[in-house]
Amino acid sequence: MKFLSYKKKNFFVDKISIEKLSKKFKTPYYCYSLSQIKSNLNSFKNLFNKTKPLICFSVKSNSNIKILNELKKEGCGADVVSMGEISAALKSGIKPSKIVFSGVGKTEEELFFAIKKNILLINIESENEAILLDKISKKISKKISVGIRLNPNINSGNIRKISTGLNEDKFGLTEKNFLSLFKKITNSKNLILNCISVHIGSQILKIDPFKNTLNVLKKIINKTNFQFKYIDFGGGVGIPYENKNNKFNLKKYSALIEKLTLKHKCKIILEPGRFIIGNSATLVTKITYIKKTKNKDFIILDAGMNDLIRPALYDAKHLIVPSKKNNTKYLKNIEFVGPICETSDKFLSVKKYQCVKEKDFLLILDVGAYGMSLASNYCFRPKPAEILINKSNIKVIRKRENINKLIINN
Ligand code: LLP
Repeated sequence: MKFLSYKKKNFFVDKISIEKLSKKFKTPYYCYSLSQIKSNLNSFKNLFNKTKPLICFSVKSNSNIKILNELKKEGCGADVVSMGEISAALKSGIKPSKIVFSGVGKTEEELFFAIKKNILLINIESENEAILLDKISKKISKKISVGIRLNPNINSGNIRKISTGLNEDKFGLTEKNFLSLFKKITNSKNLILNCISVHIGSQILKIDPFKNTLNVLKKIINKTNFQFKYIDFGGGVGIPYENKNNKFNLKKYSALIEKLTLKHKCKIILEPGRFIIGNSATLVTKITYIKKTKNKDFIILDAGMNDLIRPALYDAKHLIVPSKKNNTKYLKNIEFVGPICETSDKFLSVKKYQCVKEKDFLLILDVGAYGMSLASNYCFRPKPAEILINKSNIKVIRKRENINKLIINN
């Protein structure tokens, strides 16, 4: 189902027209569809209905507490990587028993915090982290439920900057180090080994990297001859951005997982972020200027790389569409750019578009994941508001930041 689309010539998020909404709210702002989020989650759940995994939504993809709360109501847990994310997940009502903590650099303070909150698992990513956990456990006389993250040495086949599964990457433990730490942890009186976890990267659209990862997992589990309570497969399922037919075959993936878990009889944890939230939001922006030059025209928007950094950081492509369609043609090299003083503050280049003018509203699509969560105050720009649409109900779930408050905080 698509809940962000045109009705006749106007772009709607659920039952709300962006033209109308933009009269009320200052651009740029993020606008989410709750129906889209729920529909994504339901299709994910349906495809995994045989293995019934614990779905730990990846909070780094979107950490808005109201959104986390909606996902909690649908039964989700949380994949977290910092004390802030643990706090946000708890505040949203997600139970500690559904929270999984990963990351290569968890500090002592963060580990203490997680342990005190009794979260489900701390996925260990190095031997020294295990040593520290063991020390903490002794100090507070409390056993700690842990997993070990495996680095399977698999290429996710995607953007290098968001791939995590090769031995040259900082994440998890190589097979040899995994097996050596496995022995130490199973001999520890303080750490209870419950899980083997893996996460090879994000925005993966091909099944083979997952298939290869599952084969490595199988091999390692057999080598350990250990009954893990959980296998945590991480996240990584990609979504179509530019080419809407470029869909990941989730059915095949769920079948692979089913096969593996039938054999090993353990509970499954999945940590999707982008799949659940990616296509549920648009960044609404207004054209400030149109700057014509000999070879191309710059459409200068009021949204910049501080509001959405994915294009600048990963060369990610997000389609940009008008809030109102017309039947005109604008044939020229066009570059949609932001106002920030960096050449990389550029969203998209196209060769044709419809005619647009200053003050028109445009929509940058599919920005629900790693959009707002990566936003910054670069150039002292306040972060945009977040608005959640539930059918015809409009709710501000994060106010636009106020410049004066930002100044005082500094
Ligand atoms: N689990 C772990 C341990 C992770 O590190 C991540 C993402 C996920 C789950 C969720 O992955 P997803 O299902 O969303 O692909 N900022 C980048 C993406 C970085 C992903 C980091 N880890 C981007 O904008 O594309």
